[in-house]
Amino acid sequence: MNENVEKDVLILAIESSCDETAAAVVKNGREVLSNIISSQIALHTLYGGVVPEIASRKHIEKINQVIEAALLEAKVTLQDIDAIGVTYGPGLVGALLVGVAEAKAIAYAAKKPLIGVHHIEGHIAANFIEHEELEPPFFSLVVSGGHTHLVRVVDYGKFEIIGRTRDDAAGEAFDKVARAIGLGYPGGPKIDKVSKEGNPEAITFPRAHVEDAPYDFSFSGVKSAVLNYINGCRMKGETCHQADIAASFQKAVTDVLVANAMHAIEEYQVQQFALAGGVASNSALREAMKKACEERGVKLYYPSPIYCTDNAAMIGAAAYYEYKKGTRHGWDLNAVPNLKLGER
Ligand code: KG4
Ligand code: ZN
Repeated sequence: MNENVEKDVLILAIESSCDETAAAVVKNGREVLSNIISSQIALHTLYGGVVPEIASRKHIEKINQVIEAALLEAKVTLQDIDAIGVTYGPGLVGALLVGVAEAKAIAYAAKKPLIGVHHIEGHIAANFIEHEELEPPFFSLVVSGGHTHLVRVVDYGKFEIIGRTRDDAAGEAFDKVARAIGLGYPGGPKIDKVSKEGNPEAITFPRAHVEDAPYDFSFSGVKSAVLNYINGCRMKGETCHQADIAASFQKAVTDVLVANAMHAIEEYQVQQFALAGGVASNSALREAMKKACEERGVKLYYPSPIYCTDNAAMIGAAAYYEYKKGTRHGWDLNAVPNLKLGER
């Protein structure tokens, strides 16, 4: 046998950090053989947001079925798998524990290496799945329900955070504003849709810039401004125009995201930029980023919507590069709800 021919690496990946129970089989970090997602959205919609206790219970109910389906769809057995990758943070602790305990049990029983993956590293790696040519170094804007990070991806698995939110995450602001204007949970996709009927210039909401931290974000001000605007309408007995509020709010958020990203692009002479996380599927953000990147000759990447929101394929992609670097976790791997990017 020719020793120089690299063997394919198959990763079974598990993700359960929030409200999706997900498993995937990924080949060589870039080819998705299966991507199974059991969403709890319908369940949490009843409460207007994710209820952690309910999320954990639902994960424990679904996880074995989801993993079985992922192996079946990929037409592989556990014996064919080279390593088990699992999100071990950040996220809801009870939810993370279900995935971590499951991954440990499978890895132990099948005698496979165990690789704990940072959830944000997964979101960034989602870009590798459909963009064969994308390789570090590049910059990434990670915008999800829990995070808003401007990240310098120095190498596979090597990151430098250059900007972050001081308060709410971008997705969190979308969800809160959606609830306030009567759109319900999950807010992001609903605001995206309703905004298409509204005028983004109708209301001027604040664009916050953090003093002495040009890459940091703050979204609590715009959220409060929307709430004040709605209260003002009610007090005057006027009806609020839902689509205009949604479109104006969305514009205020995306303007700041794009401005900080462009500042980083110019300052660091960035050539390639990747959007990541649930909010990366926002159509206004994609359009604004496309235009701004084109003007600067920067190549912009973003994953398909299915790889933007939580999924296990992105965890499999990240786990592959960790596997290649030699990252292995022991049987003492635990869930780390506030895990920092780049930490082990
Ligand atoms: O990455 P993700 O699935 O979970 C976290 O890691 O947090 O992101 C979920 C977030 C939610 O806040 C959701 O409202 C937001 O992403 N989101 C969107 C869109 N699709 C999902 N926000 C704006 N526009 C969208 N189209
Ligand atoms: Zn996520």
